[in-house]
Amino acid sequence: MYTEPEIIVGLDLGTSKIAVVVAERDSRFQDAQIIGIGSAPSLGIRKGLIVNLEQAVQAVRMAVQDAEKMVGFEIDEATVAFSGIDATSITSRGMVSLGRVPRQVGIQDIERVIEAAQSELSVPSNRVTLHTIPVKYSLDGNSGIDDPLGMTGIRLEIELQSVIVPTSVIQNIINCVESAGLNVNGLVIKSLASALGSLTDEETRTGAVSLCVGGGTTGVALFSDGRPVRLTVIPIGGDHITNDLAYVLKIPISKAENIKHQISLILDENDDTVEVEARGRTKLLEVSEAVDVVSCRLEELFVDHVLKTFSDQNVHMFPAGIVLSGGVAKTGGIETFTTEVMNLPVRIADPLDSFQMPPGRNDCEYTTSSGIIRYIMNKERNPYRYIEAPIEVLRSGGMSAYMAAKRGGQQRNTKSASGGEGFRHFLEMVKKSIKELF
Ligand SMILES: Nc1ncnc2c1ncn2[C@@H]1O[C@H](COP(=O)(O)OP(=O)(O)O)[C@@H](O)[C@H]1O
Ligand SMILES: [Mg+2]
Repeated sequence: MYTEPEIIVGLDLGTSKIAVVVAERDSRFQDAQIIGIGSAPSLGIRKGLIVNLEQAVQAVRMAVQDAEKMVGFEIDEATVAFSGIDATSITSRGMVSLGRVPRQVGIQDIERVIEAAQSELSVPSNRVTLHTIPVKYSLDGNSGIDDPLGMTGIRLEIELQSVIVPTSVIQNIINCVESAGLNVNGLVIKSLASALGSLTDEETRTGAVSLCVGGGTTGVALFSDGRPVRLTVIPIGGDHITNDLAYVLKIPISKAENIKHQISLILDENDDTVEVEARGRTKLLEVSEAVDVVSCRLEELFVDHVLKTFSDQNVHMFPAGIVLSGGVAKTGGIETFTTEVMNLPVRIADPLDSFQMPPGRNDCEYTTSSGIIRYIMNKERNPYRYIEAPIEVLRSGGMSAYMAAKRGGQQRNTKSASGGEGFRHFLEMVKKSIKELF
């Protein structure tokens, strides 16, 4: 039976540009096609945080209008990806008994074990759990269970990854996007969206690292056995490189930006000097000096910050290596440079791995956009893979979003109507998952 395709929209709130991605998906959530990506320069957003609401609203409107021109219809809702530099990713564990005799694991048992792991977390009252991601299940001590539903045992255990974000950050984002005239359907942290837009399924299973280096932030996602074991955002990006170049070479920011686009980190590929017009005078700059500045900042980012996010995870857990995305991944020679610094295989992301991209948008800068679509598809196909706090709960802040979604009306800070809405949302997710699985 033919059914009309549904439209899904993602909004990438970057620090350099805002992108709006529009996709059509079939009603069974099996497939999606990107039909347009609009974009506009980002304003009022610094290091992933909204610093000027009016400007940010204006920039979102421009990006939406650009996308609307491309697809030919009005856009009124979106799932929003944001940097969230204050986000923390925490691992917790839970265990439940299935009884004294072995029996099959049901949906309720999966819920119970998620709740058990959630109860191990203490979320400060000014923060909210945006993402709850089951990373690893084990049944009677056998780890590496991909999906325990329907399997038989007596003891179910889980390792959970929770992404906790300041409530005010989320509320400012919702406020901004809604003021620009869009309903917010959901939120996803940039490091997760970018990873889903740049890693292949095989890489996520083998173990890989997604590094999305944007203007003001770098999203880091470590994937192992198909699941994100850590999601972080580092407040360093390409704009720091531009500022360093302007400062060290004593040239204006716009010239520094140009030089950054021209040079290659592999020195032999550069001319020895480059002419720069600055303040009415022509300066001759040593290219090697510019390369040193860029290399120095990138090395700091990779070694001092990215490697630190690995903490107890060994680099050998990620044999598929690093996949670079974001505008900075277009820096000449960055693949070779990163391979040497990180001692892992490196490749530049190709959004085509996920989706056919519109002309001019098939570029590693747009992996966050394609990743939002892949995230929405994944979430709807299997609600226990990426559990996201219902928007009503995020809007009002308060307790752990998953618990709030389940308990609905009981939540203290939420009006009973919106709490009930949260619970209905949760039930809908469960129903969808049951349909999907049987
Ligand atoms: N060809 C290039 N070479 C080096 N840096 C680049 C190039 N193109 C874009 N960039 C840098 O990438 C950053 C923007 O990346 P992007 O992913 O669009 O950012 P965001 O997601 O934060 O909006 C900027 O710092 C920009 O200078
Ligand atoms: Mg980006």
